[in-house]
Amino acid sequence: MPFLACRVFDSPEVNHQLVQLELNDLSDGDTVIKVDYSSINYKDALAASGRGKIMKSFPLNAGIDLAGTIEQTSNPNFKAGQKILVNGCGIGENHDGGLAEYARVKSEWLIALPEAYDTRQAMIIGTAGFTAALAIYRMQQNGQTPDKGPIVVTGASGGVGSFAVNLLSKMGYETIALTSRQSMRDYLQGLGAGQITELDKLDLSDKPLAKAVYGGAIDNIGGETLSKIIAHTNLWGNVASIGLADSPKLNAMVFPFILRGVSLLGISSTNCPMDLRTKIWQQFGNELPLPDFEKIVSEEIKLADVSPYFDQLIDKKHHGRLIVNCQ
Ligand SMILES: NC(=O)c1ccc[n+]([C@@H]2O[C@H](COP(=O)([O-])OP(=O)(O)OC[C@H]3O[C@@H](n4cnc5c(N)ncnc54)[C@H](OP(=O)(O)O)[C@@H]3O)[C@@H](O)[C@H]2O)c1
Repeated sequence: MPFLACRVFDSPEVNHQLVQLELNDLSDGDTVIKVDYSSINYKDALAASGRGKIMKSFPLNAGIDLAGTIEQTSNPNFKAGQKILVNGCGIGENHDGGLAEYARVKSEWLIALPEAYDTRQAMIIGTAGFTAALAIYRMQQNGQTPDKGPIVVTGASGGVGSFAVNLLSKMGYETIALTSRQSMRDYLQGLGAGQITELDKLDLSDKPLAKAVYGGAIDNIGGETLSKIIAHTNLWGNVASIGLADSPKLNAMVFPFILRGVSLLGISSTNCPMDLRTKIWQQFGNELPLPDFEKIVSEEIKLADVSPYFDQLIDKKHHGRLIVNCQ
């Protein structure tokens, strides 16, 4: 039975096409999933548009996350009809991903859908929300508390940034949402941001050890902003490095680390160990508040209509989360 998929090819250059596939065309796996929802993350946009080197082999279906229903599985711990989600683990990078009506994956990557949310909400969270939650978890494990001072969130109106602002605010942290778009003020205020500052108006010093004004940071953009925020971080604060939307460069001196005990935490969602991955997904609605799903989702797109959205996302034409209805 043919089904629709957003497939990335590398000839004559990297590009994506909406094609009809059969199950046998998909990467190997012991579990077939009917995909309810997937989403468009920054990484998917880089992969499908060819603007970043994400995929390790071609052709491959895009989509680094999915939520849906098991059609068949040989793993006795799961059963047909069960709702599950998958994120990271190489889907959409070296294994056919979630932007398709069907996916075939390894059952060791499955996460039983927690009771607190449905498959649509799971993909509003998606890799972006998961990664923000993973950053908060690691910061708190490393001693972050609201009394250490405000948390700066860069790329605040993007997927990861929106979740970071929304979750931290609900958890009693003061947040400083740093955005490059003045038009995002009302949106960020609605998510609970304490202060909203435009990137070019933030007064950041060039000194390697600057006035300590931030309790910590969740950084999605990298580059000079990240370097300067580290220098402004308070005693024993944590800076979570997530993204490179501005630049992959980091030009820093060791002073904040050795004189203030500041920690730079690396956040990698793709290869997060399965036990920690499961724990983070189960935290939403338990240890973590439920996010404001309908505020953060900016658009629900049909699979057949995804093509223009990849370039648009990289060009900052959207905010929050774009989810894809795959049925
Ligand atoms: N480490 C991991 O496991 C992991 C997981 C998910 C995502 N990421 C990375 O984290 C970053 C954010 O991902 P996302 O899914 O949230 O992407 P997104 O939804 O596209 O958001 C990115 C945001 O970054 C800001 N931005 C974009 N280009 C910029 C530029 N040139 N200079 C400064 N700011 C810029 C914009 O926010 P404003 O308009 O508010 O400024 C934009 O909305 C990406 O680099 C992505 O690859 C990493």
